[in-house]
Amino acid sequence: MDRFLRLALPSLAVLAVLGAGVVGHAGVQTAGGSPWFQGSEACRDCHPAEHEVWLGTRHFASSRETHKNPLARKVLEAVGGDRNMKRNETCVLCHYTLEQEEAAARPTARSGPSCESCHGASSDWIAIHNDYGGPTATREAETPAHREARRRGAREAGMRWASMSYDLAANCLVCHGLAAPGLKAGTLAAMQVAGHPLSDFELVRYSQGSVRHRFYPPDLTTNASMDPAELSRLYVTGQAAALVAATGALGATADGAAEAVLAPWREAQQARVAHAREVLGALRGVPEAAALLGEPSEAHARALVDAIAGLDVEGQVGTLLPATADLK
Ligand code: HEC
Ligand code: HEC
Ligand code: HEC
Ligand code: HEC
Repeated sequence: MDRFLRLALPSLAVLAVLGAGVVGHAGVQTAGGSPWFQGSEACRDCHPAEHEVWLGTRHFASSRETHKNPLARKVLEAVGGDRNMKRNETCVLCHYTLEQEEAAARPTARSGPSCESCHGASSDWIAIHNDYGGPTATREAETPAHREARRRGAREAGMRWASMSYDLAANCLVCHGLAAPGLKAGTLAAMQVAGHPLSDFELVRYSQGSVRHRFYPPDLTTNASMDPAELSRLYVTGQAAALVAATGALGATADGAAEAVLAPWREAQQARVAHAREVLGALRGVPEAAALLGEPSEAHARALVDAIAGLDVEGQVGTLLPATADLK
């Protein structure tokens, strides 16, 4: 499994162990083991503005509401397992943050998708992120070289952040593409047949509305919107990630699920592939786009995202950008 997917769903390993009936799952999360989630409290004091934005999202509200939605019961019946959504091993993968106070603690669903669902489980990167050069060092006095090294270190320990990064976009699709690796195509398809939404996820529409938090220097009090050139690149990044995710989903094992169950899910993934191909096909003269279309791999998608960082793609995809009123 690719690195970002492991980081997005480190709990898969824990759940697999639980599912196999092995007790003492703390053992799989000891130091050096899979990173674990601390929860949004670990970020709130230093990032109050971002935390405030999160409180206004469905990601936050869902943990209080979605399990009471009548649809939840139908989906639970279709999937089987624990009848409590917050303990059901399938639902928790996407709907909750399984938080821990320490490596040996039991992971518990305490909130909906939160900071680390997108930025990566923080147990391995938080100390690097917060170290400006020793216990007495301050952020203001940090040298540029130390800052660079700190950011690189955090990234290597599993932190994700830049909106233009392929990893962040691909990570949204782990949940929003109904394509989570580790879940069988038959399970995902059965959820859909039971009425579970197959999100009509498009990165610009989903990331630039309620979810957007962009408090960057010099004005740390303004949640800045992107300009059309940035939005166009983000749109392409989202389609590159969608193509890879949906292609991967179509290749997942069906595990004997009935064709009638699989068909609608397959059609939805095929529609995603077709749309992404149309958009990326418009990037004529960009060899990385042609390479990705020829072979929809993560490596090719990353190469395309790197390549467009210096390109103006507004002419090709500008007309596809969602209207402000349509942002989620
Ligand atoms: C002790 C304070 C502190 C804590 C705790 C903290 N951060 Fe930060 N974070 C900062 C500061 C300061 C910056 C500003 C940019 C910098 O690194 O110079 C930052 C920047 C960031 C960035 C932008 C990327 C970057 O490196 O600049 C992200 C994303 C982020 N933090 C996420 C988180 C998340 C998620 C948590 C909780 C798991 C968290 N932070 C906890 C202080 C903190
Ligand atoms: C692969 C990730 C994934 C899994 C697994 C998953 N969900 Fe979801 N679920 C989502 C996403 C993403 C949405 C939101 C779709 C959108 O609005 O774009 C959602 C939406 C829902 C909704 C509708 C919520 C609303 O506000 O209308 C219900 C109900 C729901 N899920 C129940 C469940 C149940 C019950 C389970 C476990 C049996 C489950 N889901 C498993 C990703 C998942
Ligand atoms: C749905 C995914 C998602 C969630 C949840 C999320 N973030 Fe982010 N975050 C992003 C993306 C995407 C960016 C990049 C924004 C950009 O540059 O366009 C970002 C950027 C940031 C930044 C740098 C920009 C800024 O505002 O300073 C910080 C800091 C940050 N996030 C902290 C947090 C914290 C703290 C939480 C939880 C309270 C959180 N994020 C929840 C996706 C998310
Ligand atoms: C850990 C899984 C997970 C990840 C990662 C994730 N989401 Fe979500 N998201 C959900 C679930 C589950 C819901 C539905 C919550 C509900 O209504 O029950 C949701 C809902 C949303 C909604 C509200 C949709 C609506 O119809 O109102 C937006 C917008 C959204 N997500 C954007 C994003 C973006 C953008 C990213 C990536 C930067 C992202 N999400 C990453 C699980 C996730």
